[in-house]
Amino acid sequence: MPHTGKKIMLSGVKPTGRPHIGNFFGAMKQFTELQDSYESYIFIADFHALTTVQNSKELSQASFDIALDYLAIGLDPAKTVLFKQSDVPHVTELNWIFNCITTVPYLERAHAYKDAVAKGKEVNVGLFDYPMLMAADILIQDADIVPVGADQKQHVEYARDTAEKFNRIFGETFKIPEPLILENVKTVPGIDGQKMSKSYGNTIPLFATDEEIKKLVMAIVTDSGSDIPKNVYAIHELFRDKKSLDTLYEEKKGKYKDLKEALIADMTAFIRPLREKREALAADPEKIKKIIREGGEKAHARAEEKMKDVRQKTGLA
Ligand code: ADP
Ligand code: TRP
Repeated sequence: MPHTGKKIMLSGVKPTGRPHIGNFFGAMKQFTELQDSYESYIFIADFHALTTVQNSKELSQASFDIALDYLAIGLDPAKTVLFKQSDVPHVTELNWIFNCITTVPYLERAHAYKDAVAKGKEVNVGLFDYPMLMAADILIQDADIVPVGADQKQHVEYARDTAEKFNRIFGETFKIPEPLILENVKTVPGIDGQKMSKSYGNTIPLFATDEEIKKLVMAIVTDSGSDIPKNVYAIHELFRDKKSLDTLYEEKKGKYKDLKEALIADMTAFIRPLREKREALAADPEKIKKIIREGGEKAHARAEEKMKDVRQKTGLA
């Protein structure tokens, strides 16, 4: 990456199955929009995924798939360094160093850990230490800005605290990153009206086929008794501007079937080109692997430079 003079943006995405339109409008789209304003780094958090995905085929396939997803929606390898976390093993070295300056009670305060304990889960050490690996991801690349969903805000605070603590002990080394919380996005409802989420089985996949779109839109629950089916409207809003949407819903008041058909048409027009782009990319897996490999080399070189300084400062060099 040439020195652009731009601030550095970095974020990680966990490879966790087929993305849905909630993920797209809530998070993925923002990354592609930010790549013009920042020197951008997006990585596939496969080390983090290993805390839960413990099957080699599943993990490697999901890592590849998520790269395809991002490239299909417009992540541009000429603007964004797209890489796999495990291609930068330096983060595990830095993670260890951070572990040695972090206390157990401090990590016990992490929401994700507390939730897992509250649910009676047997927590592995990787999950417990998740925030420290994430701090390493962020700090090793000198990130200024870390765009994340609201659920990840605490993790960025852990990274800030850890940078400050390291700097205090060993001397000025790390930048203090800022979270960029993607919170002005509305929660996209699922076909049952609850929040759209993989865990509720109520999603419309971002790369759905035409048949899936038809079937899923037809299955959106409608509340009889009102002229405007609110779940249909809330999803439709993502695909059409408000003015023309309101005209349509006024014209077709109470005609749920017509409104759903209009949504199917709009959604299909939006999704089809993305799906076709994804299919075209998938036809050349070597090209995708090359993008990830080259991204990995760039991220690796930066991390190696940073770790030279860290090893000096800590007395490891
Ligand atoms: P899921 O609930 O389907 O497992 P994730 O937790 O993997 O989704 O979400 C990844 C990101 O996608 C989140 O950080 C969040 O910003 C966004 N997101 C997920 N579901 C929605 C939704 N229904 N509406 C808006 N954004 C969403
Ligand atoms: N924890 C993030 C998630 O679950 C993924 C992640 C790992 C990440 N390391 C990161 C995000 C560093 C931002 C910066 O979505």
